[in-house]
Amino acid sequence: MRVLGIETSCDETGVAVYDSERGLLAHALYSQIDIHAEYGGVVPELASRDHVRKLLPLIQQVMAESGSTPAGIDGVAYTAGPGLIGALMVGATLSRSLAYAWKVPAVGVHHMEGHLLAPMLEAQPPAFPFVALLVSGGHTQLVRVDAIGRYELLGESLDDAAGEAFDKAARMLDLDYPGGPQVAKLAEQGEDGRFVFPRPMVDRPGLDFSFSGLKTYTLNTVAAHALADGLPDQQTCADIANAFQTAVVSTLVVKCRRALEHTGMKTLVIAGGVSANKKLRADLEQALAKIGAKVFYARHEFCTDNGAMIAYAGCQRLLAGQQEPLAVNVRARWPL
Ligand code: KG4
Ligand code: ZN
Repeated sequence: MRVLGIETSCDETGVAVYDSERGLLAHALYSQIDIHAEYGGVVPELASRDHVRKLLPLIQQVMAESGSTPAGIDGVAYTAGPGLIGALMVGATLSRSLAYAWKVPAVGVHHMEGHLLAPMLEAQPPAFPFVALLVSGGHTQLVRVDAIGRYELLGESLDDAAGEAFDKAARMLDLDYPGGPQVAKLAEQGEDGRFVFPRPMVDRPGLDFSFSGLKTYTLNTVAAHALADGLPDQQTCADIANAFQTAVVSTLVVKCRRALEHTGMKTLVIAGGVSANKKLRADLEQALAKIGAKVFYARHEFCTDNGAMIAYAGCQRLLAGQQEPLAVNVRARWPL
């Protein structure tokens, strides 16, 4: 089965063709970062408009690169939520229309299921069952995954998502949007241990997270060391970024390890934008080796939003017999 996958939930237009026999045939991504950078975050209306402009040319490109003709496509998968409604509607409407014209089924994919399954596109994919840590700009969740479509929520953030906390810390340090990679880069120049930030909720039992207290702590530390321009000196900014990243990463590591111990599983999958974080990957690898467990993640470009994960997840859903009626339904909020 060959599936065209389309992702437009936020500020990336992602398109891919996945073939269940031959694997990923082609993928392309257009990022709107430059459009939103001057506003310090995603402007929903501008996002929708740009998806409209970019989507068809990108589909044409990926169809050509994958050597596909409409007659060779067996289904169209699109992100149906969660995300920005206008942005989702662009991908959903175009996908539904293409499927109608090509007389093939369409399937709406949960964005986080896409992230969750992205590591399946790697040469050595994880085997079911496993525990997944979904860490993106909108979600921080620990999920027990027994098979595709069989998910059980083990714990989640009670307030900000980890990626959102990274983005907010970046703003406090006057770094560009999107903040996560910028904080991570600055943290490399920071001195380990100059500041020690609190690890939220690690002393409490359970698998939930909370990052809003850490955000306030970061803000207070920035304010306490601010110079005349409102920012601490460059080294202090790097030291704060380092302490912030260390606190987020150790919190995530503690909870992942606990989730594996609770479930008795030995496989952890990390997915979503924050799973691109090098310190998170390294610290998890080290901590899990001690308990004989292994961590899997997608290649860097498939950690953040992309069309390949939607094409893959959609293909699995279509193979399982799922498809959508003609009406287009998207959801801003949607539990996994
Ligand atoms: O999965 P994603 O592309 O979009 C959502 O579904 O939210 O995740 C984006 C989030 C942003 O908050 C971004 O700052 C964060 O992932 N992020 C990172 C890194 N790369 C992306 N956070 C920390 N370290 C990184 N290297
Ligand atoms: Zn995402």
